[in-house]
Amino acid sequence: MSSPISHSTETNLKEQNSTTSETPTLINVGLGERSYDILIGGGLLDQAGERIASLRPQAKCTIVTDETVASFHLKTLEASLTSAGISFKAVVLPAGEATKSFDKLSYLLDELLSHEIERGDLVIAFGGGVIGDLAGFAASILRRGVDFVQIPTSLLAQVDSSVGGKTGINSSYGKNLIGAFHQPLLVLCDLDVLKTLDPRQFKAGYAEVVKYGLIKDAEFFNWLSNNRERVFNLETEALVHAIQTSCAMKAYVVSADEKEHGVRALLNLGHTFGHGFEALCGYGDRLLHGEAIAIGMVLAFEFSEGLGLCEKGLHEEVEAHFKAAGLPTRIQDIPAYEEFSVDMLVDKMRQDKKVERGNLVFILAKAIGDAVVYRDVREEQLREFLNLKLD
Ligand code: GLY
Repeated sequence: MSSPISHSTETNLKEQNSTTSETPTLINVGLGERSYDILIGGGLLDQAGERIASLRPQAKCTIVTDETVASFHLKTLEASLTSAGISFKAVVLPAGEATKSFDKLSYLLDELLSHEIERGDLVIAFGGGVIGDLAGFAASILRRGVDFVQIPTSLLAQVDSSVGGKTGINSSYGKNLIGAFHQPLLVLCDLDVLKTLDPRQFKAGYAEVVKYGLIKDAEFFNWLSNNRERVFNLETEALVHAIQTSCAMKAYVVSADEKEHGVRALLNLGHTFGHGFEALCGYGDRLLHGEAIAIGMVLAFEFSEGLGLCEKGLHEEVEAHFKAAGLPTRIQDIPAYEEFSVDMLVDKMRQDKKVERGNLVFILAKAIGDAVVYRDVREEQLREFLNLKLD
């Protein structure tokens, strides 16, 4: 299937080929009066103040970030807001998935209230997926909703979590189980911040890039197979192509199905398995989200083969791609996987948000570039498959 963008009536792509900091690539997420732009390019942190001031003149801002991002980039963002005459404060939280908790949400809301952030003001989510999800959720419930801007600093956040308005925190029952849809006003993807990203985090974000090829764009998957090293070397042209193609597909899918009643569910390829592993690993460094879904996507292809949905051997092609990128691909690659049992995994997978009236719903594949929502998995089939994979 060719890129869905050519079929989009809502998503408006402009300046697709420009890669300079002066003219960032612009993708519009078409959601009526809640539409917004994603800008991709170099030097966007320096321009953030000016862009935010013109979007919401006179607004006060609270920057929400984590200790790692703050140590590299907070001064640059603060300087940009200051030179645009924006009044702001910053809240710096611990880095890591454990920050997506009720405790940190409550702390952040108190900080926002003490900064007197009002309805016309802005929250700036400045970090990876954890900060984007937490700050976006806090913005969605503060004074029944204030606006926010996403400045994603990880590859994963730039290509996935900063776009589409999914916000929330984790529960001991599972990942992202408490949250709200709340669309940002603007997304600024500055390529320069990726230079300081931990290589393991970059690889984990790359799994989400590959996901877009696997679900709807075989041509993009092939392009990635030939250009993976250029993306990892942060070559501007290749990096912009990878991020732009990912964001354009995300924008298209979100425009078509904002609240995940249909096509948006496809973005969860590999996530039913992946969320199960993450829940068992406790959402820490033991297994990153991108690593969990890389394993999950290989399993989703293999499971699809077993169910007769797609030709045999495709999972090996998917696995080879992730392996070459240095990602884990098997349950056995998860530290201390020996603790897992089929019961434990199925128990966690049953908390998936796609469960419908107690039935598991999977995103499976008919081919590379052709994912489908599949509701006909019997629990015995899943157990049998997991038994084999845990052996
Ligand atoms: N990350 C999946 C979605 O935004 O729908």
